[in-house]
Amino acid sequence: MMKKRTARKLLLALMSMVTLAACAQPAPPSAAASAPDAARGRQAYVMCATCHGAGGERPPSMDAPPLGGQSPAYVERQLRAYRAGLRGMHPDDVAGNRMRVLARSLPDEALIADLAAHISSLPAVRSDRAVKGSVQAGRKLYQAQCIACHGASGEGQAALNAPRAAGLGEQYTVTQLQHFKFDRRAAAGNDLGQQMTDVARKTLRDERAIRDVVAYLSSLAP
Ligand code: HEC
Ligand code: HEC
Repeated sequence: MMKKRTARKLLLALMSMVTLAACAQPAPPSAAASAPDAARGRQAYVMCATCHGAGGERPPSMDAPPLGGQSPAYVERQLRAYRAGLRGMHPDDVAGNRMRVLARSLPDEALIADLAAHISSLPAVRSDRAVKGSVQAGRKLYQAQCIACHGASGEGQAALNAPRAAGLGEQYTVTQLQHFKFDRRAAAGNDLGQQMTDVARKTLRDERAIRDVVAYLSSLAP
């Protein structure tokens, strides 16, 4: 975790960069209706690279997830959810709060799709190992409760709106599963987040189950 003050300074600096980026690259009036502009997204991604990694791989010191390998639809939906206050609202979701402020500072809606288009071109990465859990027990749990939506390799399934779940970094993944289980991630009106909340409540009985399934997820190669 970054020190609070450093994080705040970084955030302020980034927010002014966002404003600058907005001035430097005004969207053409038809941008919202046309196809996403991955080149514009790549330029704007400079604002994200400090925390999410220049290649979408996330520096190990950050509590942000890697973004490489996520579907553009999921990335877009999350950025909209943060902006609309459907994620990152709970007072105990400190990192989510931070990302919500950042998402709200993006200058226009079209940039969200542009960023997502660029991010989807970044490769998935292998997870770090930070949490002790049983890969074997995790595999059992995953195959019984998660595979239908997140796929055999944790790669996600666009048709079910299920994101990549493998390779997200162990601490991030543990935190998200706790957020779902204790209803801290999906605010009212976030239906897909609510779906995952229901699953986590029913299937992740305790901390150990969370650690096991996360250990299994990070054993999966991208
Ligand atoms: C100051 C660090 C920081 C910066 C800069 C930053 N993020 Fe984040 N981002 C985070 C953290 C921390 C999280 C995890 C938040 C949570 O737990 O909800 C996150 C989460 C996300 C998520 C959700 C990922 C998932 O798997 O659900 C997306 C998408 C995202 N960020 C996109 C971006 C984009 C695009 C930018 C640049 C415009 C950006 N972020 C800039 C720290 C940052
Ligand atoms: C019914 C389908 C379904 C099942 C079963 C399911 N998930 Fe999910 N999962 C989702 C959806 C949809 C989301 C996206 C939620 C959102 O938009 O916030 C999600 C989100 C996640 C995320 C957050 C990813 C990120 O980048 O932040 C993780 C981690 C995750 N699921 C792990 C699991 C695990 C572990 C299991 C089994 C215990 C599981 N899921 C079972 C549908 C499912």
